[in-house]
Amino acid sequence: MIEIREIGRQFNTRDGGTFEALKDVSFSVKDKEFFSIIGPSGCGKTTLLKMVAGLVRPTSGQIVIDGSPVSGPGNDRAMVFQHFVLLPWADILTNVGFGLEMRGLSRRESREAARPFLDRVGLTGFAEHYPHELSGGMQQRVGLARALAVSPDILLMDEPFGALDAQTRQLMQEDLMRIWDVEQKTVIFVTHSMDEAAYLSDRVLVMDTHPGKVREVLDVPLPRPRDEAVRTTPVFNELTSHMWHELRGMIGDPTAPAPE
Ligand SMILES: Nc1ncnc2c1ncn2[C@@H]1O[C@H](COP(=O)(O)OP(=O)(O)OP(=O)(O)O)[C@@H](O)[C@H]1O
Ligand SMILES: [Mg+2]
Repeated sequence: MIEIREIGRQFNTRDGGTFEALKDVSFSVKDKEFFSIIGPSGCGKTTLLKMVAGLVRPTSGQIVIDGSPVSGPGNDRAMVFQHFVLLPWADILTNVGFGLEMRGLSRRESREAARPFLDRVGLTGFAEHYPHELSGGMQQRVGLARALAVSPDILLMDEPFGALDAQTRQLMQEDLMRIWDVEQKTVIFVTHSMDEAAYLSDRVLVMDTHPGKVREVLDVPLPRPRDEAVRTTPVFNELTSHMWHELRGMIGDPTAPAPE
């Protein structure tokens, strides 16, 4: 279990003051849960995810994973970013194995171990291709394969499909669902898309901003395995319109009449 306990984070501002990015954030994520975080831009989603990854330290509070406080990055966690940076000079198989190389395996061993993960994300034939030869969606698959290859218990995904076109994004969501069904990892997934959050998640954390804090945690009572058909169910629609209502309240409604 991942426990986020009263996390706060301040950053120094240029004028010598401090800016409170996150305040009193507490929630927990169960083992093998698919947990999404949604909230306005700047509410601290990436900061929070990096804290779980051990890349950023909280100013106050603590993150505890299976009883141990997080003090830095660890082999139990892997992160996937919106713009996954692949090594341009290395072929896809080396790119997928890169995390393993970082952990001390030889190039040959890493490539060997990486191959099944390339299959898992549907890129079997692309082992010897180079990143520039792949589409954006394929490159994100490589990023996902690289994260899976180190066999983390926890997958931290920061808007992994945010830069993709709508159709590719939907296909990636389906693939991720399929992979997660098999791999059964704990996933924390940051997204701006309410549909994506509802389709993928067991629970969704809606964040508030200035400072970033928990607004509510929603259950997603949709049966699994899920397919495209769930997107048209009343439960799905109620959930996404509820999220929209909450978020719109935070960012303001540009179409609302100006106050008198
Ligand atoms: N290293 C830093 N130094 C100063 N301020 C920072 C730093 N990292 C983040 N911030 C500030 O903290 C706040 C939260 O940033 P963060 O990137 O976590 O937001 P986010 O919710 O991921 O936003 P988005 O949805 O746009 O990705 C922002 O106001 C940001 O400017
Ligand atoms: Mg972010």
